[in-house]
Amino acid sequence: MDMHVMEGPDPVLTRSDLIADPSLSAYEKVGGYRGLRRVLSGLSQDDVVEEVKLSGLRGRGGSGFPTALKWEKVAHHRVPVRYVVANGSEGEPGSHKDHFLISRTPHQIIEGIIIAAYAVGASQAHLFVKDNFSEGIRILRRAHQEALSAGFLGENILGSSFSLNLQIFVGPSAYIAGEETALLEALEGRPPRPRPKPPYYPTEMGLYNKPTVVNNIETFAHVARILREGPAWFRKRGTQKSPGTMVFTVSGSVAKPVLVELPLGFSLRRLLEDYAGGPLPGETFQCFFTGGPSFGILPAKDIDTPLDYDSLRAKGTGLGSAGIIVLGSNDCPVATSREFASFYETGSCGQCPPCRLGTESLAGLLDLVESGQGTIETIDRIRKIADMIKGRGNCGLITASAYMVQSLLHHFPDLVKTHLGDSRKSGKDRVPTYKYDHFVG
Ligand SMILES: Cc1cc2nc3c(=O)[nH]c(=O)nc-3n(C[C@H](O)[C@H](O)[C@H](O)COP(=O)(O)O)c2cc1C
Repeated sequence: MDMHVMEGPDPVLTRSDLIADPSLSAYEKVGGYRGLRRVLSGLSQDDVVEEVKLSGLRGRGGSGFPTALKWEKVAHHRVPVRYVVANGSEGEPGSHKDHFLISRTPHQIIEGIIIAAYAVGASQAHLFVKDNFSEGIRILRRAHQEALSAGFLGENILGSSFSLNLQIFVGPSAYIAGEETALLEALEGRPPRPRPKPPYYPTEMGLYNKPTVVNNIETFAHVARILREGPAWFRKRGTQKSPGTMVFTVSGSVAKPVLVELPLGFSLRRLLEDYAGGPLPGETFQCFFTGGPSFGILPAKDIDTPLDYDSLRAKGTGLGSAGIIVLGSNDCPVATSREFASFYETGSCGQCPPCRLGTESLAGLLDLVESGQGTIETIDRIRKIADMIKGRGNCGLITASAYMVQSLLHHFPDLVKTHLGDSRKSGKDRVPTYKYDHFVG
C-alpha cells in the first residue's frame, strides 16, 4: 500500500531538499552537521542542554516528555559512564514517520544523537532499528560509515576532545521492543521484556545500569535543527506548550493516506481535508485513533481539536507518535477494536500475569461481542477486566489495551449492544487499512 508524502507549510525535518537524498554530501549541502559544528566550536554541555530546554522540545516517541529534563538527569549523575540510545523501533499501528525519517534523512538523526551524547557526556550511543526493516538497516549503515569517514563520529570529532562510538543495533521487531526498558534489555542481549519502574528509570539505571538517555529518532532529528538554528527559531512553530512540528501519518479511510509534517496545534480537520483528501467517496468520518490505538478514540464531532499534546489529552485521547487512523462511516469500531485487542494480546511479552491474562481476556471477549456471541454479561466482564488491569504491569502496554477498550465502550455503547446476538445487523464490519509499506513522492 502507498502512502503519499506531502510538504507541510513550514517543515523542519521533511523539506523536499532534506528528504530527496539520504547521502552525507546532500545533507551537508543543505546545512547538515552545522548544528554539531556550532556545538563543538564553543558550547558547553550545559549550554546545549539549556538550548534544548529553551526550545521546549518534547519527545516524539509517544509520551511527550520534555527532552531536556531527561538529559539533565543523565548529565548530572556523578558516574563516568553514560549512554545515549535512539529508539527507531516504531511499532504503533498507524505510525510510519520513523521508518520514513530513517530511510530519507538518516544524517539528521545521527547528528542529533551526536549532539545529545556531547550534552550528557556519553561516549557510546546505540541506534535501535528493527531486524525486519532491511532498507532502513542498509541506509543507516551507509550513513554511519559516511559520518565516520567524515570525522563526525569516532575519536576526537572534528578535532575536538569529544569522541563517540555509535552502534547501529539491529534488534527484534516485536512491538514490545519499542518500550524503552525492553529495548535496553534487547541491547544487553536478552529478550525484550520491560523492566519494573519505579523505582529506577533509564535516566538513573539504564543500559548496563548506567544513566541512559532514550529518545525517539524524530526527537533527535529535531535536536539537530534546534542546535543549528536556535530555540527561538524552533519555537516559531507549534504552540506554547507543544512547540515545533511533528511528522504526522494519516491512514485508514481517507481519500489519500498521507505523511506530512505540521506545526503542533494544527487542526485535525484541516489535516484530513487539506492533506488527506477528506473521507472515502460517499462516506463521512466516524471517529479517529489520533495516537494509534493506545490513546483511544476521538469521535468525529471533535474533528476541530488542535493536534497537540494538551488539547488531545483534554478530549480523553492523545498525540502518541502522531499516527492517525481514520474510521469512515463504513468501518466498524467494534471490529477495529477487536483487531487492536488481539494486537495487544500478541504484543504482550507475557512476563506480567495481569497483562498476559488481561490482554488475552479482552481480546477473547471482544471477539465474542464482535462475532455476535456476546451478552450484556460479556460487556460487564470487559468493563471489569479493563478497570482491574490498568497500570498493573511493568509497562504501558497493559494500560493502552484497557484504555482502548474502555474508549470503545464509552464512545459507542449502543453500537456495542447492537452486536449482541447479531454481529452483522449493521452490515458494516470493515476494518480500516493502517499498514503501508511504500512512500510516494
Ligand atoms: C508498548 C510500548 C511500545 C513503545 N514503542 C515505541 C516505539 O516503537 N518507538 C518509540 O520511540 N517509543 C516507543 N515507546 C515509548 C518509549 O518507551 C519511550 O517513552 C520513548 O522511546 C522515549 O522517547 P521520547 O522521549 O523521545 O519520546 C513505547 C512504549 C510502550 C509502552
